[in-house]
Amino acid sequence: DAGYETIRVEQRGRVGWITLDRPEALNALNTQTMREVVAAAEAFDVDEGTGAIVVTGSEKAFAAGADIKEMEQKSGLDMVLTDHFGAWARFAAVRTPVIAAVSGYALGGGCELALMCDVILASDRARFGQPEVQLGVIPGMGGTQRLVRALGYYKAAEIVLTGRMIDAAEAERAGLVSRVVAAADLLDEAESVARTIAEKPLPALYAAKAALDVALESTLAEGVRFERQAFAALFDTADQKEGMAAFREKRAPSFTHR
Ligand code: CAA
Repeated sequence: DAGYETIRVEQRGRVGWITLDRPEALNALNTQTMREVVAAAEAFDVDEGTGAIVVTGSEKAFAAGADIKEMEQKSGLDMVLTDHFGAWARFAAVRTPVIAAVSGYALGGGCELALMCDVILASDRARFGQPEVQLGVIPGMGGTQRLVRALGYYKAAEIVLTGRMIDAAEAERAGLVSRVVAAADLLDEAESVARTIAEKPLPALYAAKAALDVALESTLAEGVRFERQAFAALFDTADQKEGMAAFREKRAPSFTHR
């Protein structure tokens, strides 16, 4: 496991698995865990043999937030000088599609980690929330920004300002999750979704994720321009030729991820 202590990492076919593993702290994300998750995700990201990454926790907790005990005594200056949470930007910048498989608590930084993923599969026991105001702080891993973009202002504001938890059904209605599945099926479903994605041509996956990301960050005109360029670039890939030939010849494609 490359010496990881707070996560478990496994490659299954073209899918990379990252499992948060600090059961004694409900998978709270301390600095070590952040570094390990980011390192594991970046290692999968530069591996051509990986077409999708799954991030998951336990049935009881995806992650109950950033580690409160680690942060409690820090000053504002400490947070700036150590760039506390800064490494998460590298997780969000991973080009490979990332699926969050969420059961139990996804609170604070745990909810924000899920929001950095591309697909959020939730078990019917998942509970999401941004309880930071109760601690005298606010979300610090992108929650205020990504929740507003994902849910709209009023739903996001109510969640952030009250700090209340929402269950999987409410999260699905709010558009915070891609899909809800029975808790017992969560990992199988995550495996299935991840494999479905990972089998697709890697250049198309990178381009699709990059274009989807631009949608959250740019004007419509800029986004459409980006999309058209990314679309055009894919016509110089072997997998585009193979995918379209296979369609014409009425056979299954055989992709090389090139
Ligand atoms: N940080 C550090 N330790 C945590 C933790 C966290 N975020 N969440 C849980 N733990 C620890 C508990 O302290 C406890 O440890 P001890 O046994 O040593 O006391 C252990 O995990 C089990 O937790 P509980 O006994 O509290 O379990 P519970 O089932 O009674 O309650 C819970 C579960 C409601 C999730 C509760 O643990 C809780 O409220 N946790 C904190 C949630 C929170 O506020 N998260 C936001 C953190 S701030 C943040 O994330 C900033 C950001 O924007 C990035």
